Amino acid sequence: MSIAALILAAGSGSRAGGVLPKQYYELGGRSILRHVLEAFAAHPKVDRLQVVISENDQEYYAAAVRGLDLAAPVPGGASRQESGRLGLEALRRKPPRQVLIHDAARPFISMGLIDRVIGALDSHEGAVPALPVIDTLKRAPDGIIAQTISREGLWTAQTPQGFRYDLICQAHERAAASGLTHFTDDASIAEWAGMKVAVVPGEPQNLKLTTASDLKSAEERYAGDIYRRCPDIRVSQGFDVHAFEPGDHVVLCGVRIPHERGLKGHSDADAAMHALTDALLGSIGEADIGTHFPPSDMRWRNAESSLFLRHASSLIEGRGGMVAHVDLTIVCEAPKIAPYVPAMRQNLAGLLGIDGSRIAIKATTSEGLGFTGRNEGLMAWATATVRLP
Ligand code: CTP
Ligand code: MG
Repeated sequence: MSIAALILAAGSGSRAGGVLPKQYYELGGRSILRHVLEAFAAHPKVDRLQVVISENDQEYYAAAVRGLDLAAPVPGGASRQESGRLGLEALRRKPPRQVLIHDAARPFISMGLIDRVIGALDSHEGAVPALPVIDTLKRAPDGIIAQTISREGLWTAQTPQGFRYDLICQAHERAAASGLTHFTDDASIAEWAGMKVAVVPGEPQNLKLTTASDLKSAEERYAGDIYRRCPDIRVSQGFDVHAFEPGDHVVLCGVRIPHERGLKGHSDADAAMHALTDALLGSIGEADIGTHFPPSDMRWRNAESSLFLRHASSLIEGRGGMVAHVDLTIVCEAPKIAPYVPAMRQNLAGLLGIDGSRIAIKATTSEGLGFTGRNEGLMAWATATVRLP
C-alpha cells in the first residue's frame, strides 16, 4: 500500500444550509461525495480510500456509496482538524507511504491535479495545490479598510493535500497534544510542525462548495459539462415477458410485490428490469441480455436482475456515456403496480446513478385481452434515451 486517499466528509455543511450535509447533495444523480470517491478510485496510483463521516450520516453514506467496494468509514470529530487526525489514525494498521487528504466538498477534482500532487511528493514531504491570489486584499475589521495587504507571494490553498504519511501523522498528533485546535487545513499543521510543503498549480474549478449558491452553480455546471460531452443521442427499446407460476410474490424493478402467483424464470424473473437492460444494451449495439447472461449458465440461476442492469449501464459508462431517461410500461391485470412505483423508481435511480425525475414507470391492464388479460403472465416495455460522447 503506498498511496491512500483520505476523504473528509464529517462536516455538517452549516453554511450551505439545507436538509442534508452538502457532501450528500446530488450532482447528476450522484452525491458529491460519490463523485469524489469515483475520481480517486479511478486514479491508477491511489490504492486505498478511507472516508471520515459523521455518525449521524450513516444512512446518507450508505446510499451514497452503494455498489462501491470501500473500507468501513470512520467517525470524524467536531472540527476538520480532528476529523483529519482520526482519519489518519484509521490508516495506521496498514500505513501507506503517502496520503492525499481531500475535502469531500470538492467534487470537481481532476486526474491532472491528483497527478501533480503525487508528482511533487517524489521530492517533497508535502504538496498542496493552490491558486495565486488575484484580487487585492483588504483588512477591514469594522467594515472600514484599515490595511491593504500585498498579494505578492500569496496563494489560496485547495485539496487534495499530499504528505508523507508518517510525518503528517506525527504533526497532527503533536498539534492535538499541544492543545492546538485552530488549523483549517493539513498544510498549516505540516507547516507548524516544520515540514517542507511545496505548492503545485491548483485549478479554479476545484472549488470547495460552501454555500447554497455554490451548490446551485455546481449543479448547472455539471449538467452543462455532461451534455456538451455527450452529443450523440440514442433512443432504444426493450421488451420482456414472463409467465406466472405458483408463488406468493413477483419482483419488478427490484421491488418485491406480494401476489398470489410468482413469475417463472431462470433469474428472479424481473421482466421490467430485463426489458430495461435490453433497451440499454440496444443503445450501444450490444446484443441482448440472453447473450450477455445465457440462461444455460448456472451462475445466473436465481440471480438478482440488478446485476444485469448494472452490467449494461457500466458498459455505457465505460464508453463515457450516460443514461438520460428511461420510460417503462408494465402490462398485467394484477398485481396492482402503482403503490410500488416510488420504490421502483428509487431503486432504478440508485442502480443507474441518475435522478429519479429521469425515470418513468407506468402500468396498465390489457382490458382482459390476450395472455396478460387471461392472467397467464405479464410483459414489460422499456424505452431508454442514452447519450454518448
Ligand atoms: N469536515 C470534517 N469534519 C468536520 C468538519 C468538516 O470532515 N468536523 C470536512 C467537511 O465535510 C468538508 C471539509 O472538511 O468536506 C471542508 O470543511 P467545510 O467546507 O467547512 O465543510 P463543513 O464543515 O461541512 O461546512 P460548514 O463549515 O459550512 O459547516
Ligand atoms: Mg466547516
